[in-house]
Amino acid sequence: MQHVERYLADNADRFVDELKQFLRIPSVSASSAHRGDVRRAAEFVRDHLAAAGLTVQIVETEGHPIIHGSWMEAKDAPTVLVYGHYDVQPPDPLNEWVTPPFEPTVRDGCLYARGATDDKGQVFTHVKSLEAWMKSAGRLPVNVQVVIEGEEEVGSNNLDRFLEQNRDRLRCDVAVISDTSQFGPGQPAITYGLRGIVACEITLRGANQDVHSGVFGGSIANPVNSLAKLIASLHDDNGRVTVPGFYDDVTPMSPAERDRLAKLPFDEATFRGSLGVAATHGESGFTTIERRWCRPTCDVNGIIGGYQGEGPKTIIPAKATAKITCRLVPNQNPDKIMAALQTHFERLCPSGLKLQFTTYHGCPAHVFDPTSPFMAAAKTAIRSAFDVEPVFIREGGSIPVVGSLKQILGVDTLLLGWGQNTDNLHGPNEHFSLDDFRRGTLASAHLWNELSRTAVVAR
Ligand code: BES
Ligand code: MN
Ligand code: MN
Repeated sequence: MQHVERYLADNADRFVDELKQFLRIPSVSASSAHRGDVRRAAEFVRDHLAAAGLTVQIVETEGHPIIHGSWMEAKDAPTVLVYGHYDVQPPDPLNEWVTPPFEPTVRDGCLYARGATDDKGQVFTHVKSLEAWMKSAGRLPVNVQVVIEGEEEVGSNNLDRFLEQNRDRLRCDVAVISDTSQFGPGQPAITYGLRGIVACEITLRGANQDVHSGVFGGSIANPVNSLAKLIASLHDDNGRVTVPGFYDDVTPMSPAERDRLAKLPFDEATFRGSLGVAATHGESGFTTIERRWCRPTCDVNGIIGGYQGEGPKTIIPAKATAKITCRLVPNQNPDKIMAALQTHFERLCPSGLKLQFTTYHGCPAHVFDPTSPFMAAAKTAIRSAFDVEPVFIREGGSIPVVGSLKQILGVDTLLLGWGQNTDNLHGPNEHFSLDDFRRGTLASAHLWNELSRTAVVAR
């Protein structure tokens, strides 16, 4: 490990410079205007994996390309699949960024840019630790399959086909993803569970165009009023989701797990402070951590409707739209939840309005065994790099590939987040601590070594 550690230390500044180049590419997967930029980001990843000494190809999909790299020369050693995404969320709201989202800037030891932590910076820790091994030792201690995609932020809709078509080539013992967070500053974590998600949109349509609210108001249903009512119908006063069937398949938490989570060093006041809220809010009977990681939710992500300009305007809007996502927990079926939502809205839609229900994407939740040998290897690697014992946590976010890796390739995933949940991922002023970047890269380098000692699963 010494040669690898020296290489990492000697090249640390260059890694930051290269990460800045990566972050300058506005690879916003949701926006068709950025199609060319998304491809440039893919090529950037390809070039860096190739320079590290991996065999790399760009795989075309119906959407954005997938980068597939591999190095399979470690005889008798296990094979690790590394997944990450090079696409980023839209940078909006633009005027809230202190420095522009695609002009990476270092402030107070943090690198600020869209994608700094989610997920370019975290992807880069693995790319550079692989480079360090290859350049300093001429080999890796494990075999690797690297899959870096460009559609994670829009639901990974073309990834499963790639995994299915390359099932044999991608055969592996375990997967590694750094696309989550540490438990807190200086407190690294291994995430053994994620929530799933379903995303949809509802539009209510009334009159065939906006009409005068004095002339027609009171005589026809107002789509914005009705949308508000539909949204209000999603929860009861105990914070429970009222969509019939929503909780039917939820696996209850075990008392042992509730005990373990309650022992985590979590401070409510710090949590509230970091968000600037006076109180937490959610489903009765559950702690804040349980609400975030282990309970299903239903939330409106955005509403569109009516006049948005300056000053008043007296209209009955012709339509109103809400974007809605539900977070799912183990055993909830995304298709079933989507259907339950649609039925719920159809039942409540007033007769004078037309409802359009659009589904976007979905993936189930996953929880892994925190006592596996792979988890033990990750724990040792993290301890070596952070000088702190990691805690075992779940997270509330979703990474669609995790379920696919289990379903299609049959492997569990090690979710090793080097970022912080306070890094403003998806929001303005996203950043990544340069210290976390450095320690993440070091932990990654240790991980390959630790995983080389785990047994190759018979396959
Ligand atoms: N990296 C996040 C997921 C995440 C962040 C998990 C922090 C745990 C902690 C990922 O890029 C993401 O944003 N996923 C989307 C899912 C998707 C289908 C759009 C999400 O969770 O909203
Ligand atoms: Mn991510
Ligand atoms: Mn994300």
